[in-house]
Amino acid sequence: MIDVIHDLSALRGHIRKWKQDGQRVAFVPTMGNLHAGHFSLIELGRRHADRVVASVFVNPTQFGPSEDFSRYPRTPEADAAGLEAAGCDLLWLPSVETMYPHGVDATVRVSVPGVTETLEGAHRPGHFDGVATVVARLFNQVQPDAAVFGRKDYQQLAVIRYMVRDLAFPLDIIAAETRREADGLAMSSRNQYLSAEERPRAAHISQTLQSMREAICAGRPREQVEAEATDRLTAAGFAVDYAAVRDRELGLPAAGHGPRVALVAARLGRTRLIDNLEFEA
Ligand code: PAJ
Repeated sequence: MIDVIHDLSALRGHIRKWKQDGQRVAFVPTMGNLHAGHFSLIELGRRHADRVVASVFVNPTQFGPSEDFSRYPRTPEADAAGLEAAGCDLLWLPSVETMYPHGVDATVRVSVPGVTETLEGAHRPGHFDGVATVVARLFNQVQPDAAVFGRKDYQQLAVIRYMVRDLAFPLDIIAAETRREADGLAMSSRNQYLSAEERPRAAHISQTLQSMREAICAGRPREQVEAEATDRLTAAGFAVDYAAVRDRELGLPAAGHGPRVALVAARLGRTRLIDNLEFEA
């Protein structure tokens, strides 16, 4: 049976006991409404540790004022059942008061420079500060030996790696591959906002990423590839925030060959979707 814990001292008690027994603890932070992508992170955590802890916390500090915090899907019973089936030992469900004891507006903030300034960071001001702020707290609460993050949120993974190194958190970061639907759409809690008419069109994002890779590998100029991708998605009815090709550190790629990542963020109706594709040019 999975233990569902709301109280910080109870959480610490469980973790202390496992560590006394010499067990390694992996941690998977989430915002809930869990799907097969999240469960694959639990399974990956299992392969790296004796115990797996997941958290579900819809973090108010990472949502902008006009974003979907209040309508973000909350499905606690299904999440607990799915986590148990995936082999998770403990579900950590902190309240806002536990996470932010001085209040959301009076919290110590963690702000990661550099990598947060472009792409998602540029389109969602303050978002990554909110992510770093809550993940730092979660790491201090759970004190895991390893934590698993999805490559689906490519820039988030880079932000977390930077923070872990900079603040010397004593844990390993493990990256998990992106899980997709049959038509290539990256799984996301936000996919359920899509209407029946929008859902098939959402597959344009992963198709566009593939065509960006092909164009770059064929030696086409980056700016042209990005503009064509934007045009293609716009023609399919998306409002495009960015369609970009970067090096793996999210800088502008040097001329010639090397590791690359194509990234897209685009809105279809009220739903904002992100995806990316890593490749060798
Ligand atoms: P959430 O969007 O719930 O995602 C939790 C974790 O699941 C993240 O590491 C994300 O990259 C991963 N994930 C989401 N969709 C995936 C997919 N299709 N395949 C593989 N992994 C996937 O990301 C967050 O929550 C929050 O920002 C959080 C880190 C919990 C901080 O609040």
